[in-house]
Amino acid sequence: MPWLAAATLCVTLIQICSSSTLSTTSEADKIASLPGQPKVSFSQYAGYIPVDEKQQRALFYYFAEAEADPASKPLVLWLNGGPGCSSIGAGAFCEHGPFKPSGDVLLKNDYSWNKEANMLYLESPAGVGFSYSVNTSFYNSVDDKMTGHYVPQLAKLIVQSKLFNLKGIAIGNPLLEFNTDLNSRAEFFWSHGLISDATYESFNTICNYSQIRRQAQSGTLTPVCSRVASEASREISKYIDTYDVTLDVCLSTISSQSAALNKLQQTEKIDVCVEDKTLKYLNRKEVQEALHARLIGISSWTVCSDVLSYEMQNLEIPTISILGELVKSGIHVLVYSGDQDSAIPLLGTRTLVNNLAKQLGLNTTVPYRVWFEESQVAGWTQVYGDILSYATVRGASHEAPFSQPERSLVLFSSFLGGRPLPEGLMSEPAVKTNKYYQ
Ligand SMILES: *[C@@H]1O[C@H](CO)[C@@H](O)[C@H](O)[C@H]1NC(C)=O
Ligand SMILES: *[C@@H]1O[C@H](CO)[C@@H](O)[C@H](O)[C@H]1NC(C)=O
Ligand SMILES: *[C@@H]1O[C@H](CO)[C@@H](O)[C@H](O)[C@H]1NC(C)=O
Repeated sequence: MPWLAAATLCVTLIQICSSSTLSTTSEADKIASLPGQPKVSFSQYAGYIPVDEKQQRALFYYFAEAEADPASKPLVLWLNGGPGCSSIGAGAFCEHGPFKPSGDVLLKNDYSWNKEANMLYLESPAGVGFSYSVNTSFYNSVDDKMTGHYVPQLAKLIVQSKLFNLKGIAIGNPLLEFNTDLNSRAEFFWSHGLISDATYESFNTICNYSQIRRQAQSGTLTPVCSRVASEASREISKYIDTYDVTLDVCLSTISSQSAALNKLQQTEKIDVCVEDKTLKYLNRKEVQEALHARLIGISSWTVCSDVLSYEMQNLEIPTISILGELVKSGIHVLVYSGDQDSAIPLLGTRTLVNNLAKQLGLNTTVPYRVWFEESQVAGWTQVYGDILSYATVRGASHEAPFSQPERSLVLFSSFLGGRPLPEGLMSEPAVKTNKYYQ
């Protein structure tokens, strides 16, 4: 995926639920129709929200009203992480927006989240996607505080401000605590057969992922740590999407890929090249016009910012404790993991949430169990004190809805509706259990 280089971290989302839809949406921002889109019944808006008139800084948004009965549906704000990646490019066009680009046209996404909510996608901070600052000094020193890195801090601000009736937040494969999250990578790679016993041993005894990352981002990578990292990279190979270790890769994005390999690529249910197609789509002049978007100070739209210089040391500031504060103030928190992601593996996340529940004195209200979508296990879940939930999405990537759209929509709608995840099959088929695992 193109935002691999952008640091592999945090896909986050926030849900701001209120009783009314956006009343300030300007009619000038209404989208007549996006090039190549099928006919739809809901309204779409896109445009700029000025955040600093003097510095000419503005954020770009895309808003898709709920497919049916928008006035009765909650408002959900979606933010991708990165830091520095686009919520429109990733969230709206590759994960759970109403459409997915395919060639010159947009295909209707049958599992779009605007079936359940009014979806607001925001490109933030300025410097990401179509969002801009005419005074480009802004780009040189962007940190968590200016961004709201991302959902937990922003949710905390919203709670303090009492401006909105915030009901809950859900965050997917998030960076919650630097050491725990990064160091769970080695075990994940090893247990999925991507690295050898010897390399796993090196991570445990010579140099671990949090050290490698810390050294690399401060430009002090030691030869010994560099050797461990290189050996792991060699073993994993570049033909693996580390955001979903079981999914095929989009071969056209791997530069040195041979033409012969290209022929081997199969057409499958998940379009692994959807990011490439989004990049092409959002760079079409007529698409930018339809979206009311402009390129200010950049020559093309990119999924992750090329102009921002993000304060990477901020990645080490834990956000897990903020989730605790939110829970204490009555905000529902769902943390979910696409279970095939090696960037922020479920192993670290599950431990962190479990420890947080203990720390808060929350008892388990739903013991660790499977949940279903249709007639298959869609993941595992555990709920603490009826307010803090953890769930895995089985077979899902770093951006869970990208590779498991159906399962992710069930997770999303259950969360919005305050319902427990489906506990059993809708109708009981003849399940044959595997006795060897009993
Ligand atoms: C541009 O922004 C920088 C820092 O963000 C500020 O110090 C500077 O005064 C601004 N320049 C102008 C012309 O306003
Ligand atoms: C990673 O390495 C550092 C430095 O040796 C060490 O303090 C830390 O405990 C290690 N973490 C893990 C999970 O092994
Ligand atoms: C949690 O469980 C313990 C042990 O069963 C019990 O003593 C305690 O009251 C429970 N706490 C809450 C908040 O329900």
